[in-house]
Amino acid sequence: MSRFKGYLFFLLTVFVFALNAQDSLDASDFFDRPPQTYNTPDKLLGWIDSRNLTSLNGEWSYIVDPMNNGLPESSFFGGFPKNKTQKTGMELIEYNFETAAKISIPGAWNAADQQLFFYRGPVWLFKKFDYSKQDNQLTHIYFEGSNFTTKIFLNGQSVGEFKGGYVPFNFDITDYVKEGENILLVLTDNTLNKSTVPTNKTDWWPWGGLIGDVYLIETPQTFILNAFVQLDSETFDKALLKVQLSEPLQNSTVTITIPELKFQQSFLTDSSGSIAEEISFNPILWSPDNPKLYKVNISNSSDFITDQIGFRSIHINGQQIFLNGKQIKFKGISMHAEPIAEAGPAFSKNHFKKLLKTAKDLNTNFVRAAHYPYSRHLAKTADEIGLMLWEEVPVYWNIDWTNPETFTIAKNQISRLVQRDWNRSSVVVWSVANETPFSPNRMDFLNNLIAEIKLNDETRLTTAALLSGSEDQFKLLVLALALQGTKSEWVNAKEKIIFKSILEQVNFAEDSSLDFSISIDDPLGESLDLISYNEYFGWYYVTFFVDQMQVEEGTLRRLMFEILEDIKITSIYNKPIHISEFGAGAKYGTTGNKIWSEEYQANVYRHQLKMISNNPQIQGITPWILKDFRAMLRPLPGIQDFYNRKGLIDENGNKKEAFMVLQDFYDTQWE
Ligand code: GCU
Repeated sequence: MSRFKGYLFFLLTVFVFALNAQDSLDASDFFDRPPQTYNTPDKLLGWIDSRNLTSLNGEWSYIVDPMNNGLPESSFFGGFPKNKTQKTGMELIEYNFETAAKISIPGAWNAADQQLFFYRGPVWLFKKFDYSKQDNQLTHIYFEGSNFTTKIFLNGQSVGEFKGGYVPFNFDITDYVKEGENILLVLTDNTLNKSTVPTNKTDWWPWGGLIGDVYLIETPQTFILNAFVQLDSETFDKALLKVQLSEPLQNSTVTITIPELKFQQSFLTDSSGSIAEEISFNPILWSPDNPKLYKVNISNSSDFITDQIGFRSIHINGQQIFLNGKQIKFKGISMHAEPIAEAGPAFSKNHFKKLLKTAKDLNTNFVRAAHYPYSRHLAKTADEIGLMLWEEVPVYWNIDWTNPETFTIAKNQISRLVQRDWNRSSVVVWSVANETPFSPNRMDFLNNLIAEIKLNDETRLTTAALLSGSEDQFKLLVLALALQGTKSEWVNAKEKIIFKSILEQVNFAEDSSLDFSISIDDPLGESLDLISYNEYFGWYYVTFFVDQMQVEEGTLRRLMFEILEDIKITSIYNKPIHISEFGAGAKYGTTGNKIWSEEYQANVYRHQLKMISNNPQIQGITPWILKDFRAMLRPLPGIQDFYNRKGLIDENGNKKEAFMVLQDFYDTQWE
């Protein structure tokens, strides 16, 4: 008995000590272990579809971890990466990935599991795989996209982390991967905040998890890391070749061949293991009408990579855009990366084939892939079917412009997007921002992103979707509506009096005229090739005037339609203007000329397209948007149900009336 008492006393002492010790620590440290530093990814592996791949796509399992209890540095039991398993039945283990819920990867866990629909937090993904290591080869793990912060553990060891969703990243795992069975654990977290890119306020769904392919890739010890082969932007028989080896190996002979052009040339790498040379050949030029692709091979003594590449040039001259030296217009449509008739993010070739076929069906030649980088399958599909692309990073609305970590995320996103897609003939525009309010810090941040693009690729156009005009310019819109209100017969007497009083307040004579005009003079335009501009005449704006003008919103909407076609859109920059967004919402099948009806949406398109035709500086448009898409900002029961309804097709692919309006416009007008 005394031994038992002694043991009990010992346990009590330990427990009391632990409690006292606890008092000296801050309560939140109770679970915390020393912070763990994680490796950052290696430089991006390019041309991956031609490399020795083992796909890890398919069935994974997952455990939701809202309190990050599975992280080694914040758990009592050593964290999930230990992946303890039962031996005798007497081990206390409070997690088991073998018996956990299953998910198909690529795929977002907040699309696959309805319990996670609105969830924003950590989820662990688990994959067991067998592997046979090849002699003298390096093994890399490659992620096409993972939202929005990712930590990777292989066989219990931490491989590294990547902050920033949507773009590819890879790690050399040669020292972690084993012969035989391997346990891969990936912590993904779709939490966003004021300092992430994007922030936590977006008008699209924060699809979380492994939203792109996951591959094991084998390379020689020294391999061709990436290569760039593109016509320069104003001639059609000269191209720039850039090659980078994985090591600073000098005098390595690198050979490029384009068999169909009977082209072959070799070069020696410099002391940094790179090549930058001009080469000459005469390709059939790629275009949407003739999407000609050539097999391009690049090799050295130990490595061989190949890709299908189209050669074309895109440039601007004054207010016009030129493809292969011929003046064109961007007859476009905007899209989000969401498949037709399927929940969650688009990630496969099939998803993008269906989406881009629908865009082609609209008679487009151009697609804005808003608001973030998509899987590489988008641009590869666009190369093949013949569509030009605008690709962009999610520098969206208010960004933490002065935070260095925020800039690092955005810079990683743009440089990885460019280094992955810089051989895609379909990609003709890189965009660095969407609707970002002006400030000196925003200018520095965005100009540095533009510089990052130019460092990697000077052959494509740069842009940003700019906000509407200044507040003063919108005060003029109120006057233009009031003036129109005094002239229109159908306006009732009471509202006519209000409109007259608004004009009298600013001494504006009723018999004068006012063509409302907007000049896009955002100082960022100085640094851009394409002056892009989001405007919603016919949808937004009047909603904000109703309280100020004390008239019915329906009156203002009808007046807006009467003045819309005469709106002038210009810019202080002698460059092409691209309307990167206009549109209106409609619930498929809703009739009657009212908000949310197909007729109202079609009416906005008819008036907008006439206005666009009247403005010669507008050389491109990407109406908002191809398909209804998931958005937490859009709750309206029975109409939106957490979809943004500005699509020309609904989430199941049903065409709304406005689809045919735009299709006809591109087919028969606006050359
Ligand atoms: C904004 C924004 C889009 C948004 C759209 C809308 O311009 O760029 O992301 O979805 O307007 O309000 O529908």
